[in-house]
Order: sequence, then C-alpha cells, then structure tokens
Amino acid sequence: MIKIAVMEGDGIGPEIIGGAISILESLIEAEFLYVKAGKRYFHETGLPMEENGIQKIKEADALLKGPVATPIRGKTYPSVNLRIRREFNLYANVRPFRSYKGISLREIDTVIVRENTEGLYSGIEEVKGGGEKAVASRVITRDKSERISEYAFKLAEREGRNRVTAIHKRNVLKVSDGLFLESFYRVAEGHPNIVADDAIVDAAAYKLVKVDKAFDVMVTPNLYGDILSDVAAGVVGSLGLCGSAQIGDDFAAFEPIHGTAEDIAGKGIANPLGAVIASSLMLIWLGERDPLLREKGISLRKAVDDLVDRRLALTPDLGGSSTTAEVINTLLKLVS
Ligand code: NAI
Repeated sequence: MIKIAVMEGDGIGPEIIGGAISILESLIEAEFLYVKAGKRYFHETGLPMEENGIQKIKEADALLKGPVATPIRGKTYPSVNLRIRREFNLYANVRPFRSYKGISLREIDTVIVRENTEGLYSGIEEVKGGGEKAVASRVITRDKSERISEYAFKLAEREGRNRVTAIHKRNVLKVSDGLFLESFYRVAEGHPNIVADDAIVDAAAYKLVKVDKAFDVMVTPNLYGDILSDVAAGVVGSLGLCGSAQIGDDFAAFEPIHGTAEDIAGKGIANPLGAVIASSLMLIWLGERDPLLREKGISLRKAVDDLVDRRLALTPDLGGSSTTAEVINTLLKLVS
C-alpha cells in the first residue's frame, strides 16, 4: 500500500489538507503518516518539527504538506520547508498554471520550473561592519543550472509543450545569471525539437500579466521563480487555486503554493483546491510506479477544472460564497 507522509502545517493548513485527504481517501488506498511541524508545534514544544519527523517522511513514498509558517518577527526558527528541500534534495519546484474563463485575468497555460536548492536561498548570509552591513550570497552553479534546465526540457517533451524560456537578470547579474543562461543554452542543444529562448525577469513579470499565453515552460533560478509564481497565481485568479510539486531524484513533496493565510484561518472559507491540485500532482508522480495512480491524478485535476469552469462551488477568493467543506463535498461527488 502507498504510504503518504502528511504535514498539515499552520494557519489554514489543517483545513485544506484535511479536505485534500478526504478526496485522496475516496480515490486510493493509502496509509497516511502524520508529521507535526510548524509554528503551533514550535510554541508547544520548542521544536520546529517532531524529532523523528524526517525519519517518518523517509518511510513514506511521498509527502503532502500544507503551508508552514516561518515567523519574521518574535521567536523564530529555521525554515521547515528549506530543511525538507535540503534533506531530500528536492531540486525542481514545478508549478503549473492554467486559466479559467471569467475568473482569470487572462489566458495562461504555463509551467514554472524553479531551481529549488541554491541561488539566494543558499542560506549564506552574514552581518558585517558591526551590524551596518548585511550580505547574502547568491550561489549559481553550472551543474545545478544544467540539472534544472534538463528537467524543464524533459517536462516540455513529456507534456507535449514546445517552448522553454530561461528567466534571468543577466544585464545586471552578468556573472551568475550569465552562468545560468550559458548552462541553459548548452542543455537546449540536446533538445532540438523544443524552442529555447530567454527573458529578463522584470519584463517576464509584466508579460505574464499583460499578454495572453505569454509563456509555455519557464525555467528560473530560485528567487525569480518564487516571485513569478505568485504573479502567475494572480493571473490565474487566486493563490488558493495553484499547487506545486517539489521533485528530487527519488522523493517528492507536494503542496499548495500559498502560505498560512492567517487572516482567514479557522473561518472555514479557505480555498482547498490548491491542496487538491497538489494531491493530483502527487498521484501523477506516483504514477511512475503504478499507472492507475497517474490516471487518477489526471482525472482529479480534470474534476477540479470542471468544478471551477462550471462555478459549481467557489470560495470567496474566487468570488463565490461556498465554504471549504462545500467545495470538497462537491468535488467528492464529481470524482466518485
Ligand atoms: P499567504 O499565501 O498566506 O496569504 C496571502 C493572501 O492570500 C492572504 O490574503 C490570504 O488570505 C490569501 N490566501 C492564501 N491562500 C489562500 C487560500 N487557500 N484560500 C483563500 N485565500 C488564500 O502569504 P503570506 O501572508 O505572505 O504568508 C504567511 C505565512 O506563510 C508566512 O509565515 C510564510 O512564511 C508562510 N509561507 C509558507 C509557505 C510554505 O509552507 N510552502 C509558502 C508561502 C508562505
């Protein structure tokens, strides 16, 4: 039986992950291993994650997680998300975005493939000059840039997409983004059937908002992908309607792209569809071992799209008045 580690996370995490689990339970036989982590757990125990948390995740075939808070003010702790990415070497952060008529700002059908292990998230920061200067190192390496580019081209081939665009700021960051771009074009030579081009990050953000179907697959260093994902989610219509996969060579974690949304936590109105889309990505990934899971993942995504296209049950972020539970119950009827 498939084993899935589950981290509910903070804020709206338990509400949306609970909804996603009831959908999964209706589709597959799986054992769910709950792992405690995040702000609430930290306040109770002084630890950001339960001591055997990583071990539990290692026993599972994949991880489904909700958003975990990393407080900026007050008592804080090292990011649980970064720890998981490093521990399992989840180097590719993959986020698909598609539009819905009457909900999205414009047409979009784009996958953002973000390098997930280095760049400005390398964790190398220091204070200098007696506290007057702070320096963060942005590490770009050839092998990791080639690895993420290869992943993006293979994804394009697998999904029948025909263009991959590298996102950069080479006009300013000549050396580091220069290396990223050079690595990208080197990898592109091995994929002659896919169009390879590039765009400057700020222009790319503008185009995402301004032009229909501006991009097909985008491959980015770490920070640019993080920011552009939220831009793309805004174009789709809500952060709550987008899911992501973080993929390594032999393990993967799946989560909605949004944060803990403390402003609506506990109100029962959080959009659970990002967490459900993350679950469908998980089933598709697990489908490499069992094709039936892939089929279920694909039909789950179709059911989400059908629900939104037909406006069967929409939470307030999408202009509706349904609760989280109503959305999940409607979806359960569509998938059963
Ligand atoms: P956020 O994504 O939590 O909220 C931004 C806005 O989007 C809020 O108005 C919120 O209500 C709305 N929103 C988000 N998800 C929604 C949903 N499912 N349904 C309806 N509305 C939704 O972003 P914020 O405030 O910047 O982050 C809060 C916390 O989340 C921070 O501590 C941050 O570290 C953490 N975070 C964790 C992530 C993860 O675990 N992967 C990712 C992003 C943020």
